Amino acid sequence: MVCLITGSSRGLGSAIAVAFGKKGYRVVVHYKERKEEALQVASLIKESLLLGADVRNSGEVTALVNEVIKRWGRIDVLVNNAGMTKESLLLKTSEKDFDEMLEINVKGSFNFMRAASRYMTEQKNGHIINISSIAGLKGKAGLSAYAASKAGLLGLTFSAARELSEYNIMVNAVLPGYMLTDMGINSSDGAKEKALNESLLKKFASPDAVAEFICCLAETTGVTGQIFNLDSRVL
Ligand SMILES: NC(=O)c1ccc[n+]([C@@H]2O[C@H](COP(=O)([O-])OP(=O)(O)OC[C@H]3O[C@@H](n4cnc5c(N)ncnc54)[C@H](OP(=O)(O)O)[C@@H]3O)[C@@H](O)[C@H]2O)c1
Repeated sequence: MVCLITGSSRGLGSAIAVAFGKKGYRVVVHYKERKEEALQVASLIKESLLLGADVRNSGEVTALVNEVIKRWGRIDVLVNNAGMTKESLLLKTSEKDFDEMLEINVKGSFNFMRAASRYMTEQKNGHIINISSIAGLKGKAGLSAYAASKAGLLGLTFSAARELSEYNIMVNAVLPGYMLTDMGINSSDGAKEKALNESLLKKFASPDAVAEFICCLAETTGVTGQIFNLDSRVL
């Protein structure tokens, strides 16, 4: 079984890649800037393939997916995990920042879904798991562009689930809780404090626990077009 985890050089993506590796999958470790970290992740996996691409660039994404097919002949699981965020009030958000957020978080996932589902439809099986956020469901002050991108990703998930079901391809979304990855750590102290206060369990989410859930979801059959909320903040 082959899985492709976007943004697996660090943070949640690296935890997902290692978790799939432990389950015996062949794992594509994808990075953009952090090749050294991605190499470290790949070294923890028995059969890995290290490939770089900017998710915004459809040519680079298609070339990456074609390379996976050339090497391993199939893609069973695609996890669209690569993402970015930037805190900024609506009135202060530049058009450039808004566009960048949408390009990475929505168009980047679209690029991978389109490229991989070409092969998944031929295989007549596959599972695409998109990493969204609770912000995409309920919005968050200071994160309107991020919330818009993560809500857009949910729309993409539902539509792709409807279109691809006839090919036995499942498409689901996961909302991890607030994790102290680079993304979580680099957010403002106020954002971290708020997330902790709103968490009923009064703790941050663990990337390893989220990764474990994603591995189980990938192997579940008969579930598509759903949102799995792993956050302990009530909607
Ligand atoms: N952290 C949280 O609390 C939290 C909560 C809810 C949802 N999420 C979502 O979970 C996912 C993972 O988040 P994280 O916290 O692990 O983030 P992170 O630590 O900041 O890691 C981001 C990853 O995305 C990759 N990436 C960023 N821009 C890219 C681009 N243009 N092209 C290709 N790859 C790109 C990075 O690659 P390089 O390092 O190689 O550049 C890196 O591997 C994201 O989708 C995020 O929105 C996170």
